[in-house]
Amino acid sequence: MPRLLDPARFGDLDLANRVVMAPMTRSRATVDGDATALMAEHYGARATAGLIVTEGIAPSEVGKGYCRTPVLDGPERVPGWRAVTDAVHAGGGRIVAQAMHVGRIAHAANKAPGTETVAPSAVRAAGAMYTDDEGMQPFDEPRELTTDEVAAVVGEYRRFAALAMDAGFDGVELHGTSGYLPAQFLSSTANRRTDRYGGSLQARIRFPVEVLEALVDEVGAGRVGLRICPGNPFNGLEDDPADDVEATFRAFLSAIRPLGLAYLHVIRRHERDPGVVLDNLAMARELHDGALIANDSFDAAEADAAIDAGGCDAVSFGRHFLATPDLVARIGDGRGPERFDPKTLYTPGPLGYTELG
Ligand SMILES: Cc1cc2nc3c(=O)[nH]c(=O)nc-3n(C[C@H](O)[C@H](O)[C@H](O)COP(=O)(O)O)c2cc1C
Repeated sequence: MPRLLDPARFGDLDLANRVVMAPMTRSRATVDGDATALMAEHYGARATAGLIVTEGIAPSEVGKGYCRTPVLDGPERVPGWRAVTDAVHAGGGRIVAQAMHVGRIAHAANKAPGTETVAPSAVRAAGAMYTDDEGMQPFDEPRELTTDEVAAVVGEYRRFAALAMDAGFDGVELHGTSGYLPAQFLSSTANRRTDRYGGSLQARIRFPVEVLEALVDEVGAGRVGLRICPGNPFNGLEDDPADDVEATFRAFLSAIRPLGLAYLHVIRRHERDPGVVLDNLAMARELHDGALIANDSFDAAEADAAIDAGGCDAVSFGRHFLATPDLVARIGDGRGPERFDPKTLYTPGPLGYTELG
């Protein structure tokens, strides 16, 4: 059976190994949302990963929620990302762009002036987020998207995929968890709509299904991945009933199965967490025919064992990559990752990002 350092082919993506760098927001874009030279240096230094998934990138200004996070919504954004993909390709790596529309998990101070916050329904999420100008602020009260506007947001994801190809990315990953827009549509508590995008289970899954259809139509299924974590309560989804979550994800994964996505990127949930009844990896294996990337709190030995046992085809590492750009080499010779400094996760500048230790 293959192990962590064996090559793989997921759809149209050929990976030198099965060590994936998990998507991590680091807030090193410009205030306006452009990719920077620092980001190219950061990703380029991690090019020995079999696949890099970028930090979440908003497909529109409206879809941006956090300070200094990137937006990919027009051709003027492409050169910044081209430098990133060139740096990764020069090191022999592969990189996909994560499309992350935050929906209601946003604050106006983190967006361009006058940009609104939208969601499936006008239901504010409990909680707060950091802003550079005003410190911690409660999440915005979102405005409910009209039916026509939902279709327009699908179009924004399609444009994102086209721009990602222009920028030299090898593919795109839809961020479908952590309480952001697709997860809001799937949720029976955040989505209170009564049109074709809400109400019944089939209506709740319609938005992410349409987004994936658009991405596949634009770049081909072999270059599209989806990140999920059924039952993830993060960012205001803790009230979704467990039985509803299972039915929702069974219907969602069954509906997209014919698309033949290159991979599913699945965050497992720990049995020790309160209320966890689903085995996310097993459900994904059952309902997806392509590759499976597993995530969350793996070390190299456990990852090797999981791939060896056939539970997944690759494992993504987030925090281990923060202070350890050469994680793949260290897995090869048995050295562990360096400790990272949590104080520099989201601060501007090179410290803790390209300047380590
Ligand atoms: C600083 C930081 C930023 C993150 N940003 C994102 C993100 O933009 N998109 C996403 O899907 N997950 C994001 N995550 C979650 C990680 O991709 C990953 O699921 C998590 O760190 C668990 O994996 P690990 O145990 O290997 O670190 C982030 C995690 C961290 C630590």
